[in-house]
Amino acid sequence: MGIKRIAVLTSGGDAPGMNAAVRSVVRTGLSSGMEVLGVHRGYNGLLNCDTVEMNLRSVSDIIHTGGTVLYTARSPEFNSAEGVQLAADNCRKMGIEGLIVIGGDGSFRGARDLTQAGIPCVGVPGTIDNDIACSEYTIGYDTAMNTAMEMVDRLRDTTESHNRCSVVEVMGRRCGDIALNTGIAVGAMAILVPEQPYDLERDIYKRMQYTQSIGKRHFIIVVAEGADCPVEELAKEIQRNTGIESRATILGHVQRGGSPTLRDRVVATQMGYHAVKLLEEGKSNRVVAMQNSQIVDFDITQALQMPRDFDADLYQIALKVSI
Ligand code: F6P
Repeated sequence: MGIKRIAVLTSGGDAPGMNAAVRSVVRTGLSSGMEVLGVHRGYNGLLNCDTVEMNLRSVSDIIHTGGTVLYTARSPEFNSAEGVQLAADNCRKMGIEGLIVIGGDGSFRGARDLTQAGIPCVGVPGTIDNDIACSEYTIGYDTAMNTAMEMVDRLRDTTESHNRCSVVEVMGRRCGDIALNTGIAVGAMAILVPEQPYDLERDIYKRMQYTQSIGKRHFIIVVAEGADCPVEELAKEIQRNTGIESRATILGHVQRGGSPTLRDRVVATQMGYHAVKLLEEGKSNRVVAMQNSQIVDFDITQALQMPRDFDADLYQIALKVSI
């Protein structure tokens, strides 16, 4: 007899497209004859049995919405041997035979621990950061980059009018992918990311002075939050070193909201489907991923040890054309 009851939760920072993934899990599970529970507020919902029975209509009208209808949390209580044991015991009490965790690396560590405690888990990468090593794409990344791009386009208008420099911080935790791609898309003069060493004198001040000498009048600099370069201070230093009036903007959580792009909706739907099929096939401790545009899966424990790639070629292109 196959698996009868599964559950789905969203955990960690929310990401546009999480709802599309929940919808896909629920509808795929139901169509396979399973019962599907929605777990509220990440792993917290397993600690206090805060779940809801999902039906086909519980996930109507959510494919286009940001946030997560299941709510999310980072759960310190769950991050202990006792917490994992309690969550596993509660899963057994509620008849949960498989769990799908939509989130990032931290959430996958929880899924691995819960699998070891006897509850088969499958992870789905949902984070705007695109920082899951085994996957070239994470749900929410495309929307976040497009939001960042639109915001910086707005900044460009005022930066240009005043002949100023705008220094913009984008999210990404320790990953520079949002910064690199957004930086290219907005025509930034410099992009600072954690994966590439930089020298402010060479890469910013001298470059600004040179481009100014050949006619450039306004400047956009995109800084990844993980680049260890506080944008307020950088803006002041730029002004001091170059005389160009500068302003800092931290885009912040606006990047996490909004209606998911087509790409996020489609990938979320594919990944949610794949996750349910893995549980149905009796597989566990797997994480769904994208490789060469195909949906694949990896062992969570191995996936957590993989080194992350950075697109150094794209970075070189950015350096060449941002002049
Ligand atoms: O992981 C997503 C993310 O938005 C990161 O880019 C950022 O560093 C972090 O979460 C912010 O976390 P919080 O919402 O807890 O402030």
